[in-house]
Amino acid sequence: MIGKTLAHYEILEKLGSGGMGDVYKARDTKLGREVALKVLPEEFSKDDERRKRFMREAQAIAALKHPNIVTIHSVEEADGVSFITMEYVEGGTLTARIPGGGVTLDEFFAYAIPLADAISSAHDQGISHRDLKPANVMFDRDGRLKVLDFGLAKLIAQSVNLDTAPTIVQGSDTAVGQIMGTAAYMSPEQAEGKEIDGRSDIFSLGIVLYEMATGERPFKGDTQISTISSILKDTPKHISEIKREIPRHVGRIVNRCLEKNPDKRFQSAKDVRNDLEGLKKEIDSGELSVEMESGPSIIGAPPSGAAAASETSTPGLRVVRRSCIRSRSMRLPQLKQITYSREPWSSIILPLPAAR
Ligand SMILES: Nc1ncnc2c1ncn2[C@@H]1O[C@H](COP(=O)(O)OP(=O)(O)OP(=O)(O)O)[C@@H](O)[C@H]1O
Ligand SMILES: [Mg+2]
Repeated sequence: MIGKTLAHYEILEKLGSGGMGDVYKARDTKLGREVALKVLPEEFSKDDERRKRFMREAQAIAALKHPNIVTIHSVEEADGVSFITMEYVEGGTLTARIPGGGVTLDEFFAYAIPLADAISSAHDQGISHRDLKPANVMFDRDGRLKVLDFGLAKLIAQSVNLDTAPTIVQGSDTAVGQIMGTAAYMSPEQAEGKEIDGRSDIFSLGIVLYEMATGERPFKGDTQISTISSILKDTPKHISEIKREIPRHVGRIVNRCLEKNPDKRFQSAKDVRNDLEGLKKEIDSGELSVEMESGPSIIGAPPSGAAAASETSTPGLRVVRRSCIRSRSMRLPQLKQITYSREPWSSIILPLPAAR
């Protein structure tokens, strides 16, 4: 393909391949700009009905407008090859930005909020992603997060012959095919081949958030089947058990995304975004402080207000409401910080760590 010209697109280099085909960097010689060109499966070109349907539905996806969603420019065909052209994003994938131990808290919010916002906006416009994962999240040259491949998984699954395409299995509803390549980010209902709605994306978002925060995937397996089995039955470790400096509240938001039963999850991506934004504001304003445990000494029973504090504290990581600390420090002015252990009602004094 490289060096060839498809319609008026000069193929420059291969960017990668996924479950649905290869992606190339290409030059649009008419408009004089670089684009990413996604070649669609061969089966796709053979069936006229399917192709027409694809074109119709692709228009809805191409109409998605959001600063954090990659723009689809066109769906075209040339020399018997069907392809999509889209905005070329050059800053790499989210996968590459997640180190072994996860991202920092600042990075977590900087990625999680626009991600949830993009999903929320697409849902408002009637489109679910269905293949949300770090490889489908990229950054442009200004560092802005961009979500790729919105709705394409379903569209392509519907458009190729499910009997002959090896990467696709048929769901219980014949209209709902499942791309198998990305089992680790599927919702339970998606893994079971059930009909899904936007809440499935919220589960996948939860997996991405968990991985960003800890560097680990919540559901793992040696094979796709064992990964799916883990998604269906395992309760992942709480985030703050893996990484103590992540506030417990972050874990709570992620856990609500990861509820197996869609009715128990956040019901909209907007709610996820709002909760993340609210939590970030609380942390930024100092209303919630985040501290690491450092050699506590026990001084006795907790003061009034301990219930509120203990609710948010865990061993090792302390997240304490400042209002509670203030009233206590007035009586104990020599103390800089107080927090509470999970042990039955003993209180712990901690020195205030350097400002973060
Ligand atoms: N618009 C784009 N701009 C720049 N690079 C892209 C673009 N789209 C895809 N890529 C690159 O091509 C790679 C392959 O993309 P592709 O979507 O085919 O596979 P995937 O995301 O790994 O899996 P899936 O098929 O499930 O989406 C991506 O990981 C990314 O590095
Ligand atoms: Mg992709």
